[in-house]
Order: sequence, then structure tokens, then C-alpha cells
Amino acid sequence: MKKVIVTGITGQDGSYLAEILLKKGYQVHGIIRRSSSFNTARIDHLYNDKAILNKKLFLHYGDLVDTSNLNRLLEKIEPDEIYNLAAQSHVKVSFEIPDYTAQVDALGTLRFLDAIREVGLKQVKFYQASTSELYGKVREVPQDENTPFYPRSPYGVAKLYGYWIIVNYREAYDIFACNGILFNHESPRRGETFVTRKITRAAGRIIAGLQQKLTLGNLDAKRDWGFAPEYCEGMWRILNHKNAEDFVLATGETHTVREFTENAFTNIGIELEWKGERENEKGIIKKIDLTVAENLVESEKDKFNYKLKNTLKIGDEIIGIDPNYYRPTEVDLLIGNPAKAEKELNWKTKTKFEDLVLLMVKADLAKILKRGF
Ligand code: NAP
Ligand code: GDD
Repeated sequence: MKKVIVTGITGQDGSYLAEILLKKGYQVHGIIRRSSSFNTARIDHLYNDKAILNKKLFLHYGDLVDTSNLNRLLEKIEPDEIYNLAAQSHVKVSFEIPDYTAQVDALGTLRFLDAIREVGLKQVKFYQASTSELYGKVREVPQDENTPFYPRSPYGVAKLYGYWIIVNYREAYDIFACNGILFNHESPRRGETFVTRKITRAAGRIIAGLQQKLTLGNLDAKRDWGFAPEYCEGMWRILNHKNAEDFVLATGETHTVREFTENAFTNIGIELEWKGERENEKGIIKKIDLTVAENLVESEKDKFNYKLKNTLKIGDEIIGIDPNYYRPTEVDLLIGNPAKAEKELNWKTKTKFEDLVLLMVKADLAKILKRGF
């Protein structure tokens, strides 16, 4: 049985990757950090499975800012593959905590690579969660493996260090280390403060009568959004390619935050109309049909404890802008070219933008009607 270490196993990607690796027959060792309340919600379905926990899935405390236990874990586990997904992953937050972001996202990667060298694990393969944020103020459209980088946040700069230290250790010490330069990927497990999930959750809460308004920042930023589980399969393909190389994973399509918002609200029966400009812009209800939301989750209604209960009407202002959500420097446009991954890894996204929005809205609405919040 091959052994693998996954850092960031409690995150969106870590949870999907753990499922994929367990299905492929790996023994999975996840690194979790101590928290004052439970932080394993995304992997509880694995954690609570007696056939899996401590048989195929093992959890260890650790933190990328603490070198002391990395060597011990590597010596004890002797992994065949390592997926380094742990990060302070929020771009806006990185402007507030740039030092910590660099400690985890930049130096954390170095600490891990150096521990591999210290312990002398010659055969181990190392995946680094690199990002389309490296392209920042983009130098070409679309972006691929040869596009120059120009990061626009402390997060992007820290991840750029991570990118180059992977390349350096590959060349200097012959470590099988690869960067997956992943464009945005989303799912019902996405953290609630990233824009997609913030929107789909708010759409559900507004139609359920639990929230009056959604407040956003820059509506015109463009992102290449895909479905997270497909990208986690891509991570495995990158590490199981014959050579240690870097790959872009993307859909090749781009959409604005505004389009994402319009789509999400259409899925719950609300057609939006925009009025005003910049921070005075507002999203107003132009048309509303409550049966759309009811029909969306009809097949799950037996599990619901709550009903849709709202007083929404045409003309209600349900979206506003708060400049606090603007970033000091923004990444305006991301669109990836995944041709290398398609050709060499036989990897391709399947879930289209509209289907991604739909599945996220549906999951949030069902969750809200089950739990009541
Ligand atoms: P996420 O949901 O924010 O998960 C981040 C994970 O890292 C969590 O498990 C978190 O633990 C853990 N973590 C944070 N700081 C840590 C530390 N100091 N030591 C150990 N663990 C720590 O992120 P994601 O969306 O799954 O992304 C996974 C990785 O891919 C990240 O490195 C991210 O930067 C990168 N990436 C993501 C995307 C995307 O669109 N999702 C695109 C490109 C690259 P807690 O649960 O305890 O907070
Ligand atoms: N979070 C957030 N909240 N973003 C908003 C909001 C808001 O209220 N309103 C508008 N946006 C805009 C941001 O300004 C940005 O242009 C875009 O929505 C996407 O923001 P996020 O969802 O926070 O993601 P991100 O693109 O900054 O970063 C994500 O993708 C990167 C890959 O390109 C993260 O997952 C990073 O970890 C990842 O590397």
C-alpha cells in the first residue's frame, strides 16, 4: 500500500484529494493543526468511518510554521507522495497578515522540502499547490506554463517563492517536485468567505428569508472557475506523470463576479437588474418566481426542517457594494490555457460554469433548509 502525506487535509481541496487517494488504494496521512474548536467538518465523513480511520486514514498534528515535527513525521511515515496543500489561502486576508502568509505559504514549502533532504527520502514525490495568482497583473492572455509572473498580493508573492523553491530543489537535489498552477476551483465545500460560496450561500439565505442583502466588492474581476474535485484528480496525475514538471489546470473560460452573481440568483428564481456605479451600484429584483427555488430542491424536501419564508418583491435591493472588500491591488483577469495538461495528463475539466453555479446554489439551499441557518 502506497503512503501519502496531505497537508491542508481539512481544507476544500484536501478533503476531496483524501477521498480520491483512498479510492485509489493509498494509505493517507493528513496533517491537521490544533484549533480551539473542531476543524474537521470537511473530512468527518471519512473520520467517522470505522473501516477507514486508523486503518487507511491517519491524522497527525502539525503546522507548516513548526519545523520540529516535519522530520519526525517523514521518518515515521516514509511517504511515497506528499501533497502540500496547507496555506493561508485568502488573498484579501494576506494584505492584513502578510508576514504570517509568507511564513506558511513561502517558508512552509521550503521547510518541507528541506526536511525531505535532511531525512534523505530520495524517492518521494512532492506536489506544491501553486496558483494562478502568480500571474496577477497578467502579461498575456490566456496564461500558460510559460507566461511570466507578476503577483499582486502578499499571498501571490509568497506563493511565487513556493513556486521557485520547488523548481530550485528539483534542479539542485533531483527531488521529484512539481508545481500545479491551478486556476480558481470551487465546490459546496469552498470556504464561505471566498466570493463564489459567499454568493451561493447568500442566494440560499435570501430566498429562505434569513438574510436581506449580499454585500460584495469588485463585481468586474474575471476568474477562470472550475469544479474542485476535478482539479484534485489533476494533482494526482501531475505527480504520477513520468517526469517532474509544472502544469496549468484551468477551464479556459473566464467570467466576471457579476455574471456569477446573476447566474446564482437566476437559479433561485430572481432576475437581477443593476443600478448605479462603482460603490453606489445596487442589485435590484427585476423579476421573481418562488417556484424556481422550490423546484430546485424538490427531490430533497423530505429531509428539510424549514420552509422558504420571505417577503421579497420586485424592486427590493438585495445586493450592495462595500469598498472594504476591494483589494489594494486587484487581479483583474485570469484565464488559463490547460493545453499541456490535456495533452500530457489526459486531464480536462468536465463541469461547465453554469453547472458549477447551479450545483453550489442547490447544495447551499438544501443545507439551509435542513439546518435553518
Ligand atoms: P483552504 O480551504 O483554505 O484550505 C487550506 C488548508 O490549509 C486548511 O486545511 C487549513 O487548515 C490548512 N492550513 C492553513 N494554515 C496552516 C498552517 N500554518 N499549517 C498547517 N495547515 C494549515 O484552501 P483550498 O481552497 O483547499 O486550497 C488548497 C491549496 O491550494 C492552498 O495552498 C491554496 O493556496 C491553493 N490554491 C487554491 C486554489 C483554489 O481555487 N481553491 C487555486 C490555486 C491554489 P484549517 O482547516 O485548520 O484552517
Ligand atoms: N472574497 C471576496 N469577497 N472576493 C470578492 C468579493 C467579496 O465580497 N467581491 C468581489 N470579490 C472579487 C475579488 O476582488 C476577486 O477579484 C474575486 O472576487 C475572487 O475572489 P476570491 O473568491 O476571494 O478568490 P481569489 O481569486 O482572490 O483567490 C482564490 O483563487 C486563487 C487562484 O487564482 C483563492 O482560492 C486562492 O487561494 C487561489 O490561489
